[in-house]
Amino acid sequence: MQRRLLVAGNWKMHGDKAFTTQFIADFVQEFGGEQRSFDALICTPAPYLSHASDAVSAQSAGIAIGAQNVSPHEKGAYTGEISLPMLSDLGCEYVLLGHSERRELYGETDSHVAEKFAACLSAEPSIVPVLCIGESLAEREAGHTENVVERQINAVLTKVGIDGFKGAVIAYEPVWAIGTGKTASPEQAQQVHAFIRGLLAEHDLSIAENIQLLYGGSVKPANAEELFSQKDIDGGLIGGASLQVESFVGICKAAQKLV
Ligand code: PGA
Repeated sequence: MQRRLLVAGNWKMHGDKAFTTQFIADFVQEFGGEQRSFDALICTPAPYLSHASDAVSAQSAGIAIGAQNVSPHEKGAYTGEISLPMLSDLGCEYVLLGHSERRELYGETDSHVAEKFAACLSAEPSIVPVLCIGESLAEREAGHTENVVERQINAVLTKVGIDGFKGAVIAYEPVWAIGTGKTASPEQAQQVHAFIRGLLAEHDLSIAENIQLLYGGSVKPANAEELFSQKDIDGGLIGGASLQVESFVGICKAAQKLV
């Protein structure tokens, strides 16, 4: 099964308009006319989504734009929240859901994340949910990695059923590897990715085989090729290394090489 690789940058709370314009221009400089065998996505802070999608269109950059969070509600009295129709209006095609920083720092529970996932599917036009899951160091050390990712996936499965995963993306990000410089070894990552695909396959083989499973946690140009060449790893969700266009491009080159 040949799945397309997805290289996704998560800028978190970094960047400004000038950075966004320059990043996209530099990316185009590298990959502009080239036939690409991978998909590129940048998840900018919400205030720059519109600027990013305008810059991508103006330069025909071929980069998708994603948000880092969304409200499950379509509209209403939810001060400070951003809805799915608003994201679509700004040119967003993807949204990260349940990133570990949202879960840890903002108290997002499995059921909040499942609600948001369901809302993505019923939005018109729909937005691709990128479901972020992963265990903490304590959970890994206690041997609970599989239980944790299974629980996180089951919360969504119960809400939307297996069909909800058609066209969705899952990012496995061990919390202990995020922003720490400690990457899961390709074997560790592959093992969990195979487990996740297996879980989905119990419900629907074709959805399991087609879904893009990203790895996230200290991905850099130096380790991207080895990670992405694992059988069940279909690209990466890149934090720190997506804040310099050179390293993001370096990771994209690793993806380009692999097909
Ligand atoms: P990192 O972050 O690449 O800086 O480890 C990944 C993420 O949080 O998505």
